[in-house]
Amino acid sequence: MDTSASPSPFFWGAATASYQIEGAVNEDGRGVSIWDTFAHTDGNIYAGETGDIATDHYHRWRDDVRLMSELHLNSYRMSIAWSRIFPEGRGALNQAGIDFYNRLIDGLIAHNITPFVTLYHWDLPQALQNAGGWLNRDTAKWFADYANVMTQKLGDRVKHFITLNEPFIAVYNGHVEGSHAPGLKNLNYATVVMRHLLLGHGLAMQALRANVANSSAGIAYSLAQIDPDTDKDDDIAAAALGDAFINRMALEPTLRGEFPKEIAHMVQEDNTLADDLRVMRQPMDFIGVNYYRHYFIRAKQEMPGFEVLPPKTKDLTEMGWESYPQGLGQLIQRIAKDYPGHDIYVTESGAAYPDVLTETGEVHDPRRIEYLQEHIASMQKAQAAGAPVKGYFIWSFMDNFEWACGFKPRFGIVYTDFSSQRRYVKDSGKWYAEFIANGAHPLK
Ligand code: FCB
Repeated sequence: MDTSASPSPFFWGAATASYQIEGAVNEDGRGVSIWDTFAHTDGNIYAGETGDIATDHYHRWRDDVRLMSELHLNSYRMSIAWSRIFPEGRGALNQAGIDFYNRLIDGLIAHNITPFVTLYHWDLPQALQNAGGWLNRDTAKWFADYANVMTQKLGDRVKHFITLNEPFIAVYNGHVEGSHAPGLKNLNYATVVMRHLLLGHGLAMQALRANVANSSAGIAYSLAQIDPDTDKDDDIAAAALGDAFINRMALEPTLRGEFPKEIAHMVQEDNTLADDLRVMRQPMDFIGVNYYRHYFIRAKQEMPGFEVLPPKTKDLTEMGWESYPQGLGQLIQRIAKDYPGHDIYVTESGAAYPDVLTETGEVHDPRRIEYLQEHIASMQKAQAAGAPVKGYFIWSFMDNFEWACGFKPRFGIVYTDFSSQRRYVKDSGKWYAEFIANGAHPLK
Protein backbone atom coordinates (compact mmCIF):
# COMPACT_ATOMS: atom_id res chain seq x y z
CA MET A 1 0.00 0.00 0.00
CA ASP A 2 1.22 3.42 -0.79
CA THR A 3 1.44 5.22 2.53
CA SER A 4 2.90 8.45 1.23
CA ALA A 5 0.70 11.48 1.55
CA SER A 6 -1.02 12.38 -1.69
CA PRO A 7 0.38 15.59 -3.15
CA SER A 8 -1.79 18.61 -2.57
CA PRO A 9 -3.67 19.81 -5.61
CA PHE A 10 -2.66 22.89 -7.51
CA PHE A 11 -4.59 25.78 -6.05
CA TRP A 12 -6.65 27.61 -8.64
CA GLY A 13 -8.28 30.53 -6.95
CA ALA A 14 -9.09 34.19 -6.89
CA ALA A 15 -8.24 36.92 -4.42
CA THR A 16 -9.88 39.86 -2.67
CA ALA A 17 -9.19 42.09 0.33
CA SER A 18 -11.42 43.18 3.18
CA TYR A 19 -11.64 46.93 2.59
CA GLN A 20 -12.09 46.45 -1.14
CA ILE A 21 -15.18 44.25 -0.86
CA GLU A 22 -16.79 44.09 2.56
CA GLY A 23 -18.55 47.43 3.08
CA ALA A 24 -20.57 47.45 6.35
CA VAL A 25 -17.98 49.75 7.84
CA ASN A 26 -20.11 50.72 10.80
CA GLU A 27 -21.62 47.36 11.55
CA ASP A 28 -21.25 44.84 14.35
CA GLY A 29 -18.66 46.81 16.24
CA ARG A 30 -16.08 47.32 13.48
CA GLY A 31 -13.62 50.11 14.29
CA VAL A 32 -12.33 52.76 11.89
CA SER A 33 -9.34 51.90 9.72
CA ILE A 34 -6.85 54.17 7.99
CA TRP A 35 -8.61 53.44 4.71
CA ASP A 36 -11.92 54.80 6.05
CA THR A 37 -10.18 57.98 7.07
CA PHE A 38 -8.18 58.29 3.87
CA ALA A 39 -11.13 57.61 1.57
CA HIS A 40 -13.24 60.14 3.42
CA THR A 41 -10.64 62.85 2.96
CA ASP A 42 -11.33 65.07 -0.05
CA GLY A 43 -9.13 64.61 -3.07
CA ASN A 44 -7.70 61.20 -2.17
CA ILE A 45 -9.94 58.89 -4.18
CA TYR A 46 -11.21 59.05 -7.74
CA ALA A 47 -14.66 60.70 -7.80
CA GLY A 48 -14.70 60.90 -4.00
CA GLU A 49 -15.65 57.24 -3.72
CA THR A 50 -15.19 55.17 -0.54
CA GLY A 51 -15.34 51.55 0.61
CA ASP A 52 -18.35 52.24 2.84
CA ILE A 53 -20.45 49.81 0.83
CA ALA A 54 -17.93 48.42 -1.67
CA THR A 55 -19.39 45.13 -2.96
CA ASP A 56 -21.46 44.60 0.19
CA HIS A 57 -19.72 41.28 0.63
CA TYR A 58 -20.27 41.47 4.38
CA HIS A 59 -23.94 40.76 3.70
CA ARG A 60 -23.64 38.85 0.44
CA TRP A 61 -20.81 36.47 1.28
CA ARG A 62 -23.02 33.37 1.05
CA ASP A 63 -23.92 34.11 -2.56
CA ASP A 64 -20.33 35.02 -3.32
CA VAL A 65 -19.02 31.75 -1.94
CA ARG A 66 -21.64 29.84 -3.92
CA LEU A 67 -20.51 31.64 -7.06
CA MET A 68 -16.87 30.76 -6.36
CA SER A 69 -17.91 27.16 -6.13
CA GLU A 70 -19.85 27.39 -9.39
CA LEU A 71 -16.67 28.71 -10.99
CA HIS A 72 -14.82 25.61 -9.71
CA LEU A 73 -12.36 27.59 -7.60
CA ASN A 74 -10.68 25.23 -5.14
CA SER A 75 -9.17 28.08 -3.12
CA TYR A 76 -9.86 31.67 -2.21
CA ARG A 77 -7.49 34.32 -0.91
CA MET A 78 -9.22 36.80 1.41
CA SER A 79 -8.15 39.18 4.14
CA ILE A 80 -9.27 39.97 7.65
CA ALA A 81 -10.17 43.51 8.64
CA TRP A 82 -8.09 44.00 11.79
CA SER A 83 -10.52 46.67 13.02
CA ARG A 84 -13.41 44.19 13.02
CA ILE A 85 -11.44 42.09 15.50
CA PHE A 86 -9.86 44.86 17.54
CA PRO A 87 -11.84 48.06 16.86
CA GLU A 88 -9.07 50.05 18.54
CA GLY A 89 -6.32 47.88 17.10
CA ARG A 90 -5.56 46.37 20.51
CA GLY A 91 -7.31 45.87 23.82
CA ALA A 92 -10.94 44.82 23.70
CA LEU A 93 -11.78 42.03 21.29
CA ASN A 94 -14.95 42.26 19.20
CA GLN A 95 -16.52 38.81 19.10
CA ALA A 96 -18.90 39.80 16.27
CA GLY A 97 -15.88 40.28 14.02
CA ILE A 98 -14.58 36.80 14.80
CA ASP A 99 -18.06 35.39 14.21
CA PHE A 100 -18.22 36.90 10.73
CA TYR A 101 -14.96 35.32 9.65
CA ASN A 102 -15.89 32.01 11.28
CA ARG A 103 -19.07 31.88 9.22
CA LEU A 104 -17.25 32.82 6.04
CA ILE A 105 -14.49 30.25 6.56
CA ASP A 106 -17.00 27.54 7.39
CA GLY A 107 -18.93 28.45 4.24
CA LEU A 108 -15.81 28.16 2.12
CA ILE A 109 -14.87 24.81 3.60
CA ALA A 110 -18.40 23.51 3.12
CA HIS A 111 -17.89 24.25 -0.59
CA ASN A 112 -14.46 22.57 -0.65
CA ILE A 113 -12.74 25.88 -1.15
CA THR A 114 -9.43 26.17 0.69
CA PRO A 115 -9.12 29.54 2.43
CA PHE A 116 -5.86 31.47 2.17
CA VAL A 117 -6.12 34.15 4.83
CA THR A 118 -4.18 37.40 4.66
CA LEU A 119 -3.87 39.02 8.06
CA TYR A 120 -2.90 42.49 6.86
CA HIS A 121 -4.04 43.90 3.55
CA TRP A 122 -3.39 47.56 4.43
CA ASP A 123 -6.39 48.42 6.64
CA LEU A 124 -4.60 49.37 9.84
CA PRO A 125 -6.94 50.39 12.68
CA GLN A 126 -7.04 54.19 12.82
CA ALA A 127 -6.43 54.17 16.58
CA LEU A 128 -3.01 52.64 15.93
CA GLN A 129 -2.28 55.23 13.26
CA ASN A 130 -3.06 57.86 15.87
CA ALA A 131 -0.32 56.26 17.95
CA GLY A 132 2.15 56.54 15.05
CA GLY A 133 1.07 53.66 12.82
CA TRP A 134 3.89 51.68 11.22
CA LEU A 135 6.35 54.41 12.15
CA ASN A 136 5.85 53.24 15.71
CA ARG A 137 7.75 50.10 16.56
CA ASP A 138 4.97 49.01 18.95
CA THR A 139 2.67 48.47 15.97
CA ALA A 140 4.71 45.36 15.15
CA LYS A 141 3.84 43.97 18.57
CA TRP A 142 0.17 44.90 18.28
CA PHE A 143 0.08 43.20 14.90
CA ALA A 144 1.53 40.05 16.46
CA ASP A 145 -1.09 40.16 19.23
CA TYR A 146 -3.83 40.39 16.63
CA ALA A 147 -2.20 37.60 14.56
CA ASN A 148 -2.00 35.49 17.70
CA VAL A 149 -5.74 35.83 18.28
CA MET A 150 -6.70 35.20 14.66
CA THR A 151 -4.52 32.13 14.27
CA GLN A 152 -5.88 30.75 17.54
CA LYS A 153 -9.45 31.29 16.40
CA LEU A 154 -9.10 30.09 12.80
CA GLY A 155 -6.13 27.75 12.96
CA ASP A 156 -8.21 24.62 13.43
CA ARG A 157 -9.64 25.15 9.91
CA VAL A 158 -7.31 27.57 8.16
CA LYS A 159 -3.81 26.29 7.40
CA HIS A 160 -2.66 28.83 4.80
CA PHE A 161 -1.83 32.23 6.16
CA ILE A 162 -0.30 35.27 4.52
CA THR A 163 0.93 37.68 7.16
CA LEU A 164 1.36 40.78 5.00
CA ASN A 165 0.12 41.86 1.62
CA GLU A 166 2.72 43.74 -0.42
CA PRO A 167 4.85 45.34 2.26
CA PHE A 168 6.60 47.50 -0.34
CA ILE A 169 3.35 49.06 -1.56
CA ALA A 170 2.29 49.74 2.02
CA VAL A 171 5.64 51.45 2.49
CA TYR A 172 5.87 53.34 -0.77
CA ASN A 173 2.31 54.28 -1.68
CA GLY A 174 1.32 54.84 1.93
CA HIS A 175 4.37 56.59 3.38
CA VAL A 176 6.57 57.91 0.56
CA GLU A 177 4.29 58.83 -2.32
CA GLY A 178 1.17 59.35 -0.21
CA SER A 179 -1.30 57.95 -2.75
CA HIS A 180 -2.56 55.35 -0.28
CA ALA A 181 -3.50 55.50 3.39
CA PRO A 182 -2.18 56.92 5.63
CA GLY A 183 -1.07 59.39 2.91
CA LEU A 184 2.36 60.30 4.28
CA LYS A 185 5.09 61.63 2.00
CA ASN A 186 8.63 61.15 3.20
CA LEU A 187 11.35 59.04 1.60
CA ASN A 188 13.03 58.72 4.99
CA TYR A 189 10.06 56.76 6.27
CA ALA A 190 10.63 53.94 3.77
CA THR A 191 13.02 51.73 5.68
CA VAL A 192 11.53 52.59 9.08
CA VAL A 193 8.08 51.45 8.00
CA MET A 194 9.49 48.41 6.23
CA ARG A 195 11.44 47.40 9.30
CA HIS A 196 8.37 47.57 11.53
CA LEU A 197 6.14 45.77 9.04
CA LEU A 198 8.65 42.95 8.70
CA LEU A 199 9.27 42.79 12.43
CA GLY A 200 5.49 42.45 12.78
CA HIS A 201 5.60 39.65 10.21
CA GLY A 202 8.32 37.81 12.14
CA LEU A 203 6.51 38.07 15.47
CA ALA A 204 3.22 37.07 13.83
CA MET A 205 4.93 34.01 12.32
CA GLN A 206 6.09 32.92 15.76
CA ALA A 207 2.53 33.17 17.11
CA LEU A 208 1.12 31.40 14.07
CA ARG A 209 3.54 28.48 14.37
CA ALA A 210 2.65 28.06 18.03
CA ASN A 211 -1.09 28.10 17.29
CA VAL A 212 -1.59 26.27 14.00
CA ALA A 213 -0.76 22.62 13.41
CA ASN A 214 0.47 21.89 9.87
CA SER A 215 0.52 25.55 9.00
CA SER A 216 1.70 26.90 5.69
CA ALA A 217 2.64 30.55 5.81
CA GLY A 218 4.31 33.32 3.89
CA ILE A 219 4.12 36.88 2.59
CA ALA A 220 2.50 38.15 -0.62
CA TYR A 221 5.29 40.31 -2.07
CA SER A 222 4.68 42.86 -4.80
CA LEU A 223 7.30 41.94 -7.38
CA ALA A 224 8.07 43.69 -10.62
CA GLN A 225 10.15 42.52 -13.56
CA ILE A 226 12.88 45.14 -13.79
CA ASP A 227 15.15 45.83 -16.74
CA PRO A 228 17.75 48.55 -17.30
CA ASP A 229 16.77 51.13 -19.91
CA THR A 230 20.05 50.67 -21.79
CA ASP A 231 23.11 48.50 -21.35
CA LYS A 232 25.16 51.43 -20.08
CA ASP A 233 26.85 50.73 -16.75
CA ASP A 234 25.03 53.48 -14.87
CA ASP A 235 21.63 52.24 -16.06
CA ILE A 236 22.51 48.69 -15.07
CA ALA A 237 23.55 49.90 -11.63
CA ALA A 238 20.39 52.00 -11.38
CA ALA A 239 18.25 48.96 -12.26
CA ALA A 240 19.96 46.98 -9.51
CA LEU A 241 19.30 49.81 -7.08
CA GLY A 242 15.67 49.99 -8.21
CA ASP A 243 15.37 46.23 -7.77
CA ALA A 244 16.81 46.53 -4.25
CA PHE A 245 14.28 49.20 -3.42
CA ILE A 246 11.19 47.83 -5.16
CA ASN A 247 11.67 44.05 -4.90
CA ARG A 248 14.37 43.14 -2.42
CA MET A 249 13.63 45.58 0.40
CA ALA A 250 11.00 43.10 1.63
CA LEU A 251 12.49 39.86 0.25
CA GLU A 252 15.98 40.03 1.69
CA PRO A 253 15.27 40.74 5.36
CA THR A 254 12.61 38.03 5.52
CA LEU A 255 14.47 35.40 3.50
CA ARG A 256 18.11 36.22 4.20
CA GLY A 257 18.06 38.27 7.37
CA GLU A 258 19.60 41.40 5.86
CA PHE A 259 18.59 44.53 4.00
CA PRO A 260 19.88 44.71 0.41
CA LYS A 261 23.38 46.17 0.38
CA GLU A 262 22.36 48.91 -2.09
CA ILE A 263 19.97 50.43 0.44
CA ALA A 264 21.57 49.36 3.72
CA HIS A 265 22.69 52.95 4.35
CA MET A 266 19.02 53.98 4.52
CA VAL A 267 18.43 51.69 7.49
CA GLN A 268 18.97 53.08 10.96
CA GLU A 269 21.83 51.19 12.64
CA ASP A 270 20.94 50.73 16.28
CA ASN A 271 21.40 48.12 18.92
CA THR A 272 18.20 46.25 18.06
CA LEU A 273 18.78 45.93 14.32
CA ALA A 274 20.57 42.59 14.44
CA ASP A 275 17.90 41.10 16.70
CA ASP A 276 15.12 42.54 14.56
CA LEU A 277 16.60 40.97 11.46
CA ARG A 278 16.75 37.62 13.21
CA VAL A 279 13.06 37.89 14.05
CA MET A 280 12.15 38.98 10.50
CA ARG A 281 13.79 35.91 9.07
CA GLN A 282 11.38 33.19 10.12
CA PRO A 283 11.25 29.96 8.14
CA MET A 284 8.47 30.38 5.60
CA ASP A 285 6.68 27.70 3.61
CA PHE A 286 5.90 29.76 0.58
CA ILE A 287 6.69 32.95 -1.23
CA GLY A 288 3.65 34.76 -2.59
CA VAL A 289 4.18 36.66 -5.83
CA ASN A 290 1.82 39.50 -6.72
CA TYR A 291 2.74 40.35 -10.26
CA TYR A 292 1.51 43.24 -12.38
CA ARG A 293 4.42 45.40 -13.47
CA HIS A 294 7.37 45.59 -15.85
CA TYR A 295 9.70 48.52 -15.26
CA PHE A 296 12.49 50.00 -17.30
CA ILE A 297 14.83 51.91 -15.04
CA ARG A 298 17.54 54.45 -15.74
CA ALA A 299 20.07 56.31 -13.66
CA LYS A 300 19.15 59.61 -12.05
CA GLN A 301 21.27 62.01 -10.01
CA GLU A 302 18.64 62.90 -7.41
CA MET A 303 17.48 60.57 -4.66
CA PRO A 304 16.77 57.69 -4.71
CA GLY A 305 19.29 57.45 -7.61
CA PHE A 306 17.07 55.80 -10.20
CA GLU A 307 14.07 56.63 -12.31
CA VAL A 308 11.25 54.36 -13.46
CA LEU A 309 10.36 55.15 -17.08
CA PRO A 310 6.91 55.15 -18.63
CA PRO A 311 5.97 51.88 -20.40
CA LYS A 312 7.48 51.44 -23.85
CA THR A 313 4.51 49.61 -25.34
CA LYS A 314 0.95 50.54 -26.20
CA ASP A 315 -0.46 47.26 -24.85
CA LEU A 316 -1.56 48.74 -21.55
CA THR A 317 -4.27 47.79 -19.12
CA GLU A 318 -6.75 50.36 -17.84
CA MET A 319 -4.30 51.10 -15.02
CA GLY A 320 -1.75 52.16 -17.63
CA TRP A 321 0.33 49.09 -16.76
CA GLU A 322 2.14 47.09 -19.42
CA SER A 323 0.96 43.53 -19.98
CA TYR A 324 4.23 41.58 -19.82
CA PRO A 325 3.45 37.90 -19.28
CA GLN A 326 7.00 36.63 -19.73
CA GLY A 327 7.96 38.70 -16.69
CA LEU A 328 5.91 36.42 -14.45
CA GLY A 329 7.83 33.34 -15.51
CA GLN A 330 11.13 35.21 -15.22
CA LEU A 331 10.32 36.32 -11.70
CA ILE A 332 9.17 32.88 -10.61
CA GLN A 333 12.39 31.31 -11.86
CA ARG A 334 14.45 33.98 -10.18
CA ILE A 335 12.65 33.48 -6.85
CA ALA A 336 13.05 29.72 -7.11
CA LYS A 337 16.78 30.13 -7.70
CA ASP A 338 17.57 32.93 -5.24
CA TYR A 339 15.39 31.71 -2.37
CA PRO A 340 15.24 27.93 -2.74
CA GLY A 341 13.25 25.66 -0.46
CA HIS A 342 9.95 27.49 -0.67
CA ASP A 343 6.79 26.77 -2.54
CA ILE A 344 5.71 29.63 -4.76
CA TYR A 345 2.18 30.90 -5.13
CA VAL A 346 1.11 33.54 -7.59
CA THR A 347 -0.99 35.28 -4.96
CA GLU A 348 -2.23 37.97 -7.38
CA SER A 349 -2.32 38.29 -11.15
CA GLY A 350 -4.92 40.01 -13.25
CA ALA A 351 -5.89 43.11 -15.16
CA ALA A 352 -8.41 45.93 -15.37
CA TYR A 353 -10.03 46.63 -18.70
CA PRO A 354 -13.10 48.74 -19.39
CA ASP A 355 -15.99 46.25 -19.21
CA VAL A 356 -19.48 46.69 -20.55
CA LEU A 357 -22.48 44.83 -19.20
CA THR A 358 -24.80 43.90 -22.07
CA GLU A 359 -28.56 44.02 -21.82
CA THR A 360 -28.59 40.27 -21.56
CA GLY A 361 -26.27 40.33 -18.55
CA GLU A 362 -23.03 39.35 -20.24
CA VAL A 363 -19.58 40.87 -20.15
CA HIS A 364 -17.36 40.12 -23.11
CA ASP A 365 -13.79 40.66 -21.95
CA PRO A 366 -11.49 38.97 -24.48
CA ARG A 367 -8.49 41.09 -23.46
CA ARG A 368 -8.71 39.86 -19.87
CA ILE A 369 -9.00 36.26 -21.07
CA GLU A 370 -5.92 36.73 -23.19
CA TYR A 371 -4.07 38.41 -20.32
CA LEU A 372 -4.88 35.52 -17.97
CA GLN A 373 -4.03 32.83 -20.52
CA GLU A 374 -0.67 34.41 -21.27
CA HIS A 375 0.22 34.85 -17.62
CA ILE A 376 -0.85 31.33 -16.68
CA ALA A 377 1.12 29.96 -19.63
CA SER A 378 4.20 31.87 -18.48
CA MET A 379 3.80 30.48 -14.96
CA GLN A 380 3.31 26.95 -16.29
CA LYS A 381 6.50 27.25 -18.31
CA ALA A 382 8.43 28.20 -15.20
CA GLN A 383 6.84 25.26 -13.43
CA ALA A 384 7.80 22.89 -16.23
CA ALA A 385 11.35 24.21 -15.89
CA GLY A 386 11.33 23.08 -12.27
CA ALA A 387 10.04 26.02 -10.23
CA PRO A 388 7.84 24.80 -7.34
CA VAL A 389 4.73 26.82 -8.19
CA LYS A 390 1.71 25.50 -6.34
CA GLY A 391 -1.12 27.96 -6.96
CA TYR A 392 -2.48 30.86 -8.96
CA PHE A 393 -4.94 33.43 -7.64
CA ILE A 394 -6.60 35.83 -10.03
CA TRP A 395 -6.93 39.38 -8.88
CA SER A 396 -9.79 39.66 -8.47
CA PHE A 397 -12.78 37.46 -7.82
CA MET A 398 -15.08 40.41 -8.45
CA ASP A 399 -14.87 44.09 -9.39
CA ASN A 400 -14.27 46.07 -6.23
CA PHE A 401 -12.91 49.25 -4.65
CA GLU A 402 -9.55 49.75 -6.32
CA TRP A 403 -7.99 51.98 -3.65
CA ALA A 404 -7.20 55.50 -4.91
CA CYS A 405 -8.83 54.69 -8.27
CA GLY A 406 -12.21 54.02 -6.66
CA PHE A 407 -14.60 51.77 -8.56
CA LYS A 408 -13.38 52.75 -12.00
CA PRO A 409 -10.87 49.99 -12.80
CA ARG A 410 -12.63 46.64 -12.92
CA PHE A 411 -10.32 43.72 -12.12
CA GLY A 412 -12.94 41.02 -11.51
CA ILE A 413 -13.71 37.83 -13.37
CA VAL A 414 -17.15 38.57 -11.95
CA TYR A 415 -18.76 41.90 -12.82
CA THR A 416 -20.24 43.87 -9.95
CA ASP A 417 -23.12 46.21 -10.71
CA PHE A 418 -22.40 48.62 -7.89
CA SER A 419 -25.89 50.15 -7.87
CA SER A 420 -27.84 46.89 -7.58
CA GLN A 421 -24.94 44.82 -6.17
CA ARG A 422 -25.83 42.09 -8.63
CA ARG A 423 -22.96 39.92 -9.83
CA TYR A 424 -22.52 38.74 -13.43
CA VAL A 425 -19.90 36.22 -14.43
CA LYS A 426 -17.73 37.73 -17.16
CA ASP A 427 -16.54 35.69 -20.12
CA SER A 428 -13.17 35.50 -18.36
CA GLY A 429 -14.86 33.90 -15.34
CA LYS A 430 -16.57 31.38 -17.58
CA TRP A 431 -13.29 30.66 -19.32
CA TYR A 432 -11.44 30.17 -15.99
CA ALA A 433 -14.17 27.84 -14.68
CA GLU A 434 -13.95 25.70 -17.79
CA PHE A 435 -10.18 25.71 -17.78
CA ILE A 436 -10.15 24.41 -14.19
CA ALA A 437 -12.93 21.89 -14.80
CA ASN A 438 -11.07 20.51 -17.81
CA GLY A 439 -7.95 19.79 -15.79
CA ALA A 440 -6.00 23.04 -16.22
CA HIS A 441 -3.78 21.63 -18.93
CA PRO A 442 -0.72 23.65 -19.86
CA LEU A 443 -1.55 26.62 -22.06
CA LYS A 444 0.63 27.72 -24.92
C1 FCB B 1 -2.33 45.04 -5.61
C2 FCB B 1 -3.16 44.98 -4.35
C3 FCB B 1 -4.60 44.59 -4.58
C4 FCB B 1 -5.16 45.24 -5.83
C5 FCB B 1 -4.24 45.02 -7.02
C6 FCB B 1 -4.74 45.60 -8.30
O1 FCB B 1 -1.26 45.91 -5.41
O2 FCB B 1 -2.61 44.03 -3.46
O3 FCB B 1 -5.32 44.94 -3.43
O4 FCB B 1 -5.42 46.55 -5.60
O5 FCB B 1 -2.98 45.56 -6.73
